[in-house]
Amino acid sequence: MFDGIAGSYDRLNDVMTAGLHHRWREMGVMLARVGPGASVLDVCCGTGDFAFALKKAVGPGGRVIGVDVSEEMLDVAREKCGKNQLYVEFRTGDLLSLPFTNGVFDACTVGFGVRNVADIPLAFSEMRRVCRPGGRVVCLEITQARIPVFKQFYNLWFDHAVPRLGRLAARDESAYRYLPASVKRFPGPDELKTLMEQAGLKNVRYEILAGGIIAIHHALV
Ligand SMILES: C[S@@+](CC[C@H](N)C(=O)[O-])C[C@H]1O[C@@H](n2cnc3c(N)ncnc32)[C@H](O)[C@@H]1O
Repeated sequence: MFDGIAGSYDRLNDVMTAGLHHRWREMGVMLARVGPGASVLDVCCGTGDFAFALKKAVGPGGRVIGVDVSEEMLDVAREKCGKNQLYVEFRTGDLLSLPFTNGVFDACTVGFGVRNVADIPLAFSEMRRVCRPGGRVVCLEITQARIPVFKQFYNLWFDHAVPRLGRLAARDESAYRYLPASVKRFPGPDELKTLMEQAGLKNVRYEILAGGIIAIHHALV
């Protein structure tokens, strides 16, 4: 599915969030607490925006690797390295079986990715495994709005406007019907926190942004 929408993914993100998705990723970078020289893995990296934001934080002496299962998304990400003048290594790989040995990264991040995997506990356990003790795991996800009026607006936008935008811009309405459906079946913030704890992560906390539609979970390894 992601192969099919790779070419229009960035444009639709900008339209759907009025450009705010960049700020949410910046907050994710801050919570990953990575500084110059750090080594970071961004899983489900897609077209690379989270990975590029991390690369800015770790600087030329740091290393960021982006991993995704979709070759088309990775092709878009690789093309953006030149445009952004930032070097990130993009590799094919599955979050549920990460191709890295234990404890090699200072942090592991995921943006809008965990919602798509079949085994959420395994995903967090893999993210924990590849980080060193004392490292950090950060998960940025869409969550369901709870504030009454905002919730109604959000449901209308997500259930009706987003699939139409998907049909117009990506010529793929089904991928953008999948988006609200996947958010609805995704665990709420407290449940996700418990799953992260069960995966062995410590000090799990979360921040809610954008009127309650974005949750950033962060934890210690
Ligand atoms: C909604 S996109 C998010 C992309 C990017 N992280 C962002 O912040 O925009 C979800 C990505 O997860 C990838 N994905 C889904 N399942 C995966 C898996 N098991 N392992 C690695 N990547 C996966 C998809 O190919 C897609 O690129």
